[in-house]
Amino acid sequence: MSEQNVDKGRRRMLTLATSAVGAVGAGFMATPFILSMTPSARAKAAGAPVEVDFSKLAEGVLLTIEWQGKPVWIVKRSNAMMEKLGTLTDLLADPDSDVIAQQPAYAKNTSRAQEKHPNISVMVGLCTHLGCVPLEKFAIGPASDMGDDWSGGYFCPCHGSKFDMAGRVYKNVPAPTNLPVPPFRFLNDTVIVVGENPEEAKV
Ligand code: FES
Repeated sequence: MSEQNVDKGRRRMLTLATSAVGAVGAGFMATPFILSMTPSARAKAAGAPVEVDFSKLAEGVLLTIEWQGKPVWIVKRSNAMMEKLGTLTDLLADPDSDVIAQQPAYAKNTSRAQEKHPNISVMVGLCTHLGCVPLEKFAIGPASDMGDDWSGGYFCPCHGSKFDMAGRVYKNVPAPTNLPVPPFRFLNDTVIVVGENPEEAKV
C-alpha cells in the first residue's frame, strides 16, 4: 500500500474512531447501567479520571468508554476466554509484556489485569500500529471468521494486526506492541476509575 493510501486509510479510521466514541458518549445517557460518569464533561475532556459502573455488563460483552479522548474497553471475560490466555505463548510477540511496558506494573501478568479481578480487562482500544480501532472478535473458533483455531481477541481491519483477549499482539503482524492498559483502580467489585492507580500502587 502506498504511503498516501495508508494516510487516507488512517484518516478514515480516525474519523470512524471519533464517531464511535461520540456514539458511545451519547449512549451513556441512554444506557441504564452506567450509573455515573464523573467529573464534569469539561474536566473529562481535559483528561480527568473517569468513573465507570459496569455492574450490569454481561460477560463477554465489550463496553467502550472515553478517557483522555481515547476509547477504553472494559470486558468481563468468561472462564473460556481466561483459559485460552495461557495457551497462546508461542503465538504472541510479547506474551509476558517484557519487551515494552504497555501496562502498569500491577497489570504485568498473563491476563494483564489486577490480581483480585483477573477476568476484568481494561485497555485502550487503539491499534499500536497506526491507531485504528480494532474490531471485537470474541467468538472462539470458526464463528469468529478468524479461522478454526482462533482463540478470541481483537482484529485490526487496517492492516491485519491481531491481539488476544488480554490485548497481547500476535507475531508477524504490523502492530509492534501489546495494546496499552491504562491506570485504573477498583472502588468496589463493579466500579472502576480509569486514569487512577490503586492506592497500594501509589508511591
Ligand atoms: S493500524 Fe495498521 S494494523 Fe492496526
